[in-house]
Amino acid sequence: MPAAERAVTAFAPGRVNLIGEHTDYNDGLCLPFAIERGVTVTATAAGGTAIEVRARDLGESDRFDAADDAPRDQGAGWRAFVRGVVGELCRAGVELPGARLEISGDLARGAGLGSSAALSAALCLALLELAGSPDALDRLALARLCARVENEWVGVPSGLLDPLAVLSGEPGQALALDMRTLDVEPVALELGEWRLALMDSGERRELAGSGYAQRRGECARACRALDVECLREAQFGDAETLPAPLGARVRHVVSENGRVEQTVRSLAAGDFGRVGSLLDASHASLRDDFEVSTPAVEATIERSRAAGAAGARSHGGGFGGQVLALFGPDTPLPDGSTAVSPAAAARLL
Ligand code: GLA
Repeated sequence: MPAAERAVTAFAPGRVNLIGEHTDYNDGLCLPFAIERGVTVTATAAGGTAIEVRARDLGESDRFDAADDAPRDQGAGWRAFVRGVVGELCRAGVELPGARLEISGDLARGAGLGSSAALSAALCLALLELAGSPDALDRLALARLCARVENEWVGVPSGLLDPLAVLSGEPGQALALDMRTLDVEPVALELGEWRLALMDSGERRELAGSGYAQRRGECARACRALDVECLREAQFGDAETLPAPLGARVRHVVSENGRVEQTVRSLAAGDFGRVGSLLDASHASLRDDFEVSTPAVEATIERSRAAGAAGARSHGGGFGGQVLALFGPDTPLPDGSTAVSPAAAARLL
């Protein structure tokens, strides 16, 4: 095949976060896993410096010059991710050839399943391979790059949870992430006859400009009031010293970190009943203290309970999206739910 025709394909999965919500940007603990569904990017070398992109599912396309310093000005939505990944790879010193990119996937967008991180990660792997520099950045550097794309090019102030999960997942394992040290510790997630399932609330909320940014701002204000660098350093008792709603936000973050640790211990003991109770406790905290639930999410939680879930909680950034529910061995999954289990990380196909 002539060099100009060389094509590579990369796949990056979405992610589910078992527990540890709104803790990543507070240097806390999370317990995500990569899932089967994801985003596929095929990159074909095209000569020159033009990047041509086609988003197959959306029937949309884009074209810009990789050598252009300011392609971000014209990019919005999915285009900002592509322009951002290309811009950040160039900034990292990777020499990208001109390319045709084709994006497809089977991961719901905006449903709290890490579709943005999956898109960025698949673009990174495909472009690095095409550039002949597959190892130019390690997985942590790639995760940081994907987060920068989302923060600085797309304008969403998300944390490292999603990119780290999609770039580090392993089949059969959840990942205990410590966002202070950036340690990634695999934790066996062998469900046996138990099942984790996603139930859609039917509500979609963009993270940009939503309550998500507001919650981040409140956590930052709480840090300033407590004179700590991050809420990981806060204590439970600190919550009592702060005015509403900051005290409640601190209570959620501190208690959620504790629930992540308890979930890791319960998984090691094979105590899924306890994991279910921890999911319920996480939801109560997300609803009452962090206030990221909505009537549609509450109705979905109720539906999961009526179907016999052992535990369920609002999942991802909140304000809509999916509910994650745990079902015991003899309980059939409710109609319309999707079973999820830990799958492999982003990779070349
Ligand atoms: C979104 C963000 C993550 C994380 C979660 C909440 O998914 O992308 O960084 O903050 O919300 O846990």
